[in-house]
Amino acid sequence: MINFTLYSNRTGNLLRLKSSEKLFNLLISLRSPWRYYHCVRVSAYASILANSIGLSKKQTRHLQIAGVVHDIGFSAINDRILDKQSSLTTEEYTRVKHHPVLGMRILDCYDFPEDIVKGVVQHHEAFDGSGYPVGLKGEAIGVYGRILFIAEAFDTMTNDTPYRHAYTIDAAMKSIQDMSNKKYDPGLVHAMLDSEELTDFYMQRDTICRHAVQSAFQGNDLFTL
Ligand SMILES: [Fe+2]
Repeated sequence: MINFTLYSNRTGNLLRLKSSEKLFNLLISLRSPWRYYHCVRVSAYASILANSIGLSKKQTRHLQIAGVVHDIGFSAINDRILDKQSSLTTEEYTRVKHHPVLGMRILDCYDFPEDIVKGVVQHHEAFDGSGYPVGLKGEAIGVYGRILFIAEAFDTMTNDTPYRHAYTIDAAMKSIQDMSNKKYDPGLVHAMLDSEELTDFYMQRDTICRHAVQSAFQGNDLFTL
């Protein structure tokens, strides 16, 4: 006999997740298109890596969502700090380092699945234990956290920041390789260096991101005055 309660609970959860995901997409893109582009790229790199190391379809989809919302904790931090063009004070940097925990609290309020929330709170933990907020080491960091960390590092390196110009893809891959088994999970470094799909996405990233912003706004006239 079909368990209708279980079925309707699952459908309900899926619908709730889809509408929260849509809302978060819209809010991030409204707050800062530049930061939204970063989230879309991290989401793509993370799901490509998840697929290439054999994670399930559901895990790959959850990592895609985690990639979009991984920096949602920044919405609880003042833009004056986030957009500062000079170096941060110790106090400001401490505040910025709270964003994974702030992100976890926000997503918890919207009933995001536990694996997504765990990935978000761990996305700055480094394989050698030098990351934050806890300083977890190796496989004590969940696979989502390890994937988001390397995906975000690659994206940050391959784009301009207020402090330096973007690395070429070869320079970024070399830097990732140099830090294998130090900052990054060696299995993921291998998957990243081997992935043609990741390189293909990198080549077309600007067009794909522009498209993502357009579709985040599609059918949303909430903010039209
Ligand atoms: Fe982050």
